[in-house]
Amino acid sequence: MRMYDIIMKKRNGGELSKEEIEFFIEGYTKGEIPDYQVSALMMAIYFRKMTEEETLALTMAMADSGDRLDLSGIRGIKVDKHSTGGVGDKTSLALAPMVAACGIPVAKMSGRGLGHTGGTIDKLESFPGFTTALTTQRFIENVNRVGIAIMGQTADLAPADKKLYALRDVTATVDNLSLIASSIMSKKLAAGADAIVLDVKTGSGAFMKQEADAKALAEEMVKIGKNAGRRTTAVISDMDQPLGFAVGNALEVREAIETLEGHGPADFLELCLTLGSQMLIAGGKAENTQEAEAALRTVIADGSALKKLAEFVEAQGGDNNVVYHPELLPRAAIVLPVPAPESGYLSRIVCDEVGICSLILGGGRETKESEIDLSVGLVLRKKVGDYVEAGEPLAMIHANDEEKAAQARERYLKACAIAGEAPERTAFIKGIVR
Ligand code: URA
Repeated sequence: MRMYDIIMKKRNGGELSKEEIEFFIEGYTKGEIPDYQVSALMMAIYFRKMTEEETLALTMAMADSGDRLDLSGIRGIKVDKHSTGGVGDKTSLALAPMVAACGIPVAKMSGRGLGHTGGTIDKLESFPGFTTALTTQRFIENVNRVGIAIMGQTADLAPADKKLYALRDVTATVDNLSLIASSIMSKKLAAGADAIVLDVKTGSGAFMKQEADAKALAEEMVKIGKNAGRRTTAVISDMDQPLGFAVGNALEVREAIETLEGHGPADFLELCLTLGSQMLIAGGKAENTQEAEAALRTVIADGSALKKLAEFVEAQGGDNNVVYHPELLPRAAIVLPVPAPESGYLSRIVCDEVGICSLILGGGRETKESEIDLSVGLVLRKKVGDYVEAGEPLAMIHANDEEKAAQARERYLKACAIAGEAPERTAFIKGIVR
């Protein structure tokens, strides 16, 4: 078999066999097939797409490209959660402690930023000293002792996805249904949780811009999970504007802390309650969503979710003082308003542009080797549907470089539309696929 022939077959619209998929995954994982050939194949897949059979074969090949985690040492039903990626998506930071405070063990594997979207690991590194480089033994011990552990993808857990994820991030080949489904599900299957709750985003800030595509992605992932014997649920949620107000690593950590303190943004809280309910039901801690939501609201109100976050941060080497003093988080030197050019209703925010503003400021990676600046980003002052007076700030830019701040301000302004009438309200949760 030759990689060249596989690339050409896909370029010409052919269907790859299971053997061909296993060949390129094994060769790439071992370093025998170079990045440039895999980049070409990813681009061919992007344009030509994959069938359901190819997607399943790719998922299984990636899940089997390394070790599978054995979580049998953790008591209870282990529930994992994964987002398809969004802007301002700090969900795991609040949701994991909420669910763990309700008694569900959260054994979660997270990733770094991808394309215009942020990643949980980068965000968590805003806590000084925090590490996600845990051994399997420490990961399991932490879940049993604290109730949560979040680790990065180790070199031997779905290593094919780890390499492909980094490559897709810098070759404009992220937003393809099969590549996203196989990337997420290979990791989730290898990571060994009993139940998986997926947060599938749709809208201008998501990889799946159209709701129909997000639904197809949700159905595909649920099917893969079911085939593999894991209880899998997918919630489809809106990403047509940033989630909450904060976009950028440390800024989002702060917003997650505020949410656990009981004063988080309404959309973000709604998402945490919806996903958390599915996790509690999957984990056998609640019979229905009403019961689950009540339990989740209680752990916010009585402070136990915030305390859980502090325990989790400490257990992974971080300074948990920051949880109670978020002013200690990394802070940018420049805070620049983005004034509204006219009065009216904010009718649209092109959401992936907001992610790109954060990238421009240094909050994400331009190349695989880029270092990120945890302190930078944006804090929205107005969300879609809000009224704004001319000159009032639409958002605040947090930057460490004047030129980048000016560039982000220009781009943010272009991403916003102001209209004479309030836009029609749309549902935030678009559906649940079981
Ligand atoms: N999240 C992942 O883990 N992989 C993708 O491809 C997209 C989002």
